[in-house]
Amino acid sequence: MAILEFRGETITDPSSIQTVLASHSIPYECWGVRSMTNDSVEGVLATYADDIARLKSLHSYVTEDVIALDPATPNLDGLLAKFSPEHHHTDDEVRFTVAGEGVFEINVTENERVKFTAQPGDLIVVPAWRRHLFYLTGQKTIRCIRLFKDKTGWEAHYPYSQAGTIERSLHYSV
Ligand SMILES: [Fe+2]
Repeated sequence: MAILEFRGETITDPSSIQTVLASHSIPYECWGVRSMTNDSVEGVLATYADDIARLKSLHSYVTEDVIALDPATPNLDGLLAKFSPEHHHTDDEVRFTVAGEGVFEINVTENERVKFTAQPGDLIVVPAWRRHLFYLTGQKTIRCIRLFKDKTGWEAHYPYSQAGTIERSLHYSV
């Protein structure tokens, strides 16, 4: 279950996390951990098919996949180095954590971030244009379902000239 650190507080209650994040236009849902008949990509997607379909319908996501990172992943540090500096995307970053854990630090103003640790059963959406950074914990392991509106939008953008990126991300309905 997720951990939210914000303004000196550590919050672990899912509904409280949802309330705090929603006040900053960051969707969070606790889908919980479900037993899987097999843990193949198809098995993972089938296990959470109902919630995937609901989100796709609600927010116009068109495709999904499953990504896995662990210490055996080739060039793991190189991959992570793309996302540990502050960046944003022009598509939502939608992540449902199936296994492992990862940390999102997400800007809520130009100078303040929430720290969200995603654990199995957690769905988080970093809205398009919202600056954030992502890194793994000491486990160096995560497996996630990702949803996309447009795969071509999945690039990290680093320049800091994007005044108004927070405002551009606030249209997201939670
Ligand atoms: Fe990102």
